[in-house]
Amino acid sequence: MSQRRDHWSSNAGLVLAATGSAIGLGNLWKFPFITWENNGGAFVLVYLICIAAVGLPIMMAELLIGRRSQKSAVGALKEAVASKWPGGRRLGGLVGFWGVLAGFILLSYYTVIAGWSLFYFFKTVGWTFGGYPAGMSAGDLFGAQVSNAGLQLALSLGFSVGTIAVVYFGVNKGIERIARLFLPILFGILLLMLFSALSMSGAGEALAHVFRPNFAELEREAVLEALGHSFFTLSLGMGAMITYGSYISRKLSVVKASGAIVALDTLIALIATVIMFSVIFSVAGMREQVSGSTVGMLFISLPELFYSEVPFGVVLGPLFYVLVALAALTSTISLLEVVSAYLIDQRGIARNKATIGAGAAIFVFTIFAALSFTGEGILSTMEIFKDKVGWFSTADHFVSNWMLPTGGFFVTLAAGWFMTREATRTELMDGSEPRWFHYGAWRFFIRWVAPVAVAAIIIAVIVGVDFS
Ligand code: PHE
Repeated sequence: MSQRRDHWSSNAGLVLAATGSAIGLGNLWKFPFITWENNGGAFVLVYLICIAAVGLPIMMAELLIGRRSQKSAVGALKEAVASKWPGGRRLGGLVGFWGVLAGFILLSYYTVIAGWSLFYFFKTVGWTFGGYPAGMSAGDLFGAQVSNAGLQLALSLGFSVGTIAVVYFGVNKGIERIARLFLPILFGILLLMLFSALSMSGAGEALAHVFRPNFAELEREAVLEALGHSFFTLSLGMGAMITYGSYISRKLSVVKASGAIVALDTLIALIATVIMFSVIFSVAGMREQVSGSTVGMLFISLPELFYSEVPFGVVLGPLFYVLVALAALTSTISLLEVVSAYLIDQRGIARNKATIGAGAAIFVFTIFAALSFTGEGILSTMEIFKDKVGWFSTADHFVSNWMLPTGGFFVTLAAGWFMTREATRTELMDGSEPRWFHYGAWRFFIRWVAPVAVAAIIIAVIVGVDFS
């Protein structure tokens, strides 16, 4: 068994891979929307506080738990809990497994939306060269797309195969290489989009809406939503960062990397929001349209607007969907890696078999998710949660509301209460930590602030608040 474990080749490799996991549909699709729904400014501020007070300390906790044990989620949490409580190994392992399960479920439906970005990439390339078809209804096109079962299966199969292919080649030759190649492209495209958006007439209003807080507009649920989203967007609470942490060698700093990952993820979410809002405020009638549908903007309004309103839209259109696809891919590979690494580390299965086996098993559930919108899904008639129908929304509801917060809560206990002070201190204060970092502050946040905040989400969910 004692094969040498792969490690990130450098700090940049680690940061790019983990940032790739963090930046995804959550940044480009979910965040702009919840910001819109919650009326901007004050919500953004609350979100930033959640990221700094809860997200950042948990990011450090997950990476350090992984790095210390050099094992993926299950093995790492077993060891973390056993440091002070040898009888707790089983419990730690169970929580790790809860994360593996979350990765499994999350990947099964995430792939479907990722597949849509492929569809719109092909479409926009066609329009760029052939012209946007006059009189076509973008809403109808979207409707036809999601309800076409064969197309949905083909798109998500394509995306799954891409994900498996990367993870198959392992940490350095697969995940890190793809992150090094794709993230700079992603940043580049996003900057181009930002310049274009800022030249639109609604840019000023957009910036004000995002950055000028109006606390009268803030609702109680918004705080929970902001906190819940900070888990999703930073890939926390399900073992992804623990697993990526287990590939950190002694030479790299957990603290520096965490700071960079969290900062980049937040920056990209804000940029994406400014871009979306600039378009919304520049185009007549958009506000009403957007309030009606959450997927609408990304896949219904934007495709059309690229060809009518957005400066340089003919070029930016296809590039934008490349951006969405790349962002999604670097997230899906981290999800598959959690499941594969579990099979590799805990079950002794070789990487090639683990990756293909896990990928294929997950794809079975992707089929349900892909058919959620076609009316042909077996599960689409099963009402498990209130008004949520279909594997797609059931899964999203369960993962975002229940699995990530409970997983995250346990991570705070593992790092803050079960691991010894000395162990976490040596992991974080390894001589390369940046000057802004104070171990005592981290320890206070991970023992008190983060668990209390996360417990609040869990209690709210139990009493029936739905923020997914
Ligand atoms: N962070 C990703 C996003 O924002 C989603 C994700 C969650 C990926 C958990 C991996 C693990 O889209």
